[in-house]
Amino acid sequence: MPPAADTDASAALRADLLEAIAGQVDTPAYVYDGEAIDAAYRQLDEAFGPVPHAIHYAMKANSALAVVRRLQALGSGFDANSMGEVDVALRCGAVPRQIVLTGVGKRSDELDRAVALDLQAINVESPGELDRLARLAADRGTVARVALRVNPDIDAQSHPHISTGLRSNKFGVPIDAARALFQAIKTRPSLSPVGIHIHIGSQITTLDPLERAAEAATALAHALREDGIAIEQLDFGGGLGIAYDGGAAPSPEAYVQRLVRAAGDIGITLAIEPGRVIVGAAGVLLTRVVDIKQFPGARRFIVLDAGMTELMRPALYSAVHRIEPVRPRTGSPEAGDIVGPICESTDAFARDRLLPPVEVGDLLVIRDAGAYGAVMGSTYLRRPLAPEVLIERDSWRVIRRRQTLDDLLSLDV
Ligand SMILES: Cc1ncc(COP(=O)(O)O)c(C=O)c1O
Repeated sequence: MPPAADTDASAALRADLLEAIAGQVDTPAYVYDGEAIDAAYRQLDEAFGPVPHAIHYAMKANSALAVVRRLQALGSGFDANSMGEVDVALRCGAVPRQIVLTGVGKRSDELDRAVALDLQAINVESPGELDRLARLAADRGTVARVALRVNPDIDAQSHPHISTGLRSNKFGVPIDAARALFQAIKTRPSLSPVGIHIHIGSQITTLDPLERAAEAATALAHALREDGIAIEQLDFGGGLGIAYDGGAAPSPEAYVQRLVRAAGDIGITLAIEPGRVIVGAAGVLLTRVVDIKQFPGARRFIVLDAGMTELMRPALYSAVHRIEPVRPRTGSPEAGDIVGPICESTDAFARDRLLPPVEVGDLLVIRDAGAYGAVMGSTYLRRPLAPEVLIERDSWRVIRRRQTLDDLLSLDV
């Protein structure tokens, strides 16, 4: 039997376990290493040392109940980007004061429910939303806890599709308008200003933009103090990237150190909303080769049973993932396009990628698929959603079963 692949990021994602999983739940399937998730959370948490802080795990990265529950048990708070995610956090045991709600277009019924729940903060994105929120809270005779999402006009130097901190992006209010908006909040008895929120993008691998954004938020907090407005927390958002190519990425410690430095002596809680850095490297998408085709003078295609319906990132923003056989065969690596089975030309995971020899039926892993993988899955072509499996030490369990065609069709009338 050939040797197992080097499973660097997570020793738990071992070839024998992956083969057993594929044998029982079939492919494609997501597989996560629970202990790697815990370790990534703890690393961030511990990096703050004695500095008062709050980690609000960004559920948008991976909201499998078992993952959220796990992080809840470690003491994490949550960043929800929809009311669905708020409910996931609540069902997993979080209390409302551990949840912040973000979203560029919240409906009035959603805002109303968020007010009724008394979430830790509702991150408001516009003057119009602020006004709606004030009226909804007044109607309820209560006070809504508000953080203002400010847009610092800082380039995250990430992919344009996952950059959110430029003036040209739809997110937040321009930072130079924030002070006046906080004054407006102060005049509304149904609003309580609890924080400044900033999130400049995702998969950020250079710390400078994150530090500059944190400095901008801190400067605003100082200005608010001069205006007699004392907020409780500075929320620096998420965004820290991971090394999809297996190289180096900034360490969580270096990241936190920059944030703490930027906050200086502000003396209030520093909050972050990490998603990818907690779950990204802890997951793989397990898939099989279903076909290999090559004609003279044409490209060589390795066709997998997973496609953009399971992992959308490459098609959506040209994301790069390492792809490796679970048990590499001996022989010289060969170049080929590694593609999915979907009838779309963007359904490709890698072009001209060198891979050890593979044969139809071989198991492969697409690495670093724990974040923005399963959550973005779709049922395009009536393909049922892939299952999710969690490994804990030497055992594993299905945490979301494969959708059946009956599940899928049950919504049709
Ligand atoms: C408001 C907000 N917070 C946190 C995150 C998490 O980002 P990441 O997964 O890059 O840490 C996102 C994702 O883009 C987001 O939109």
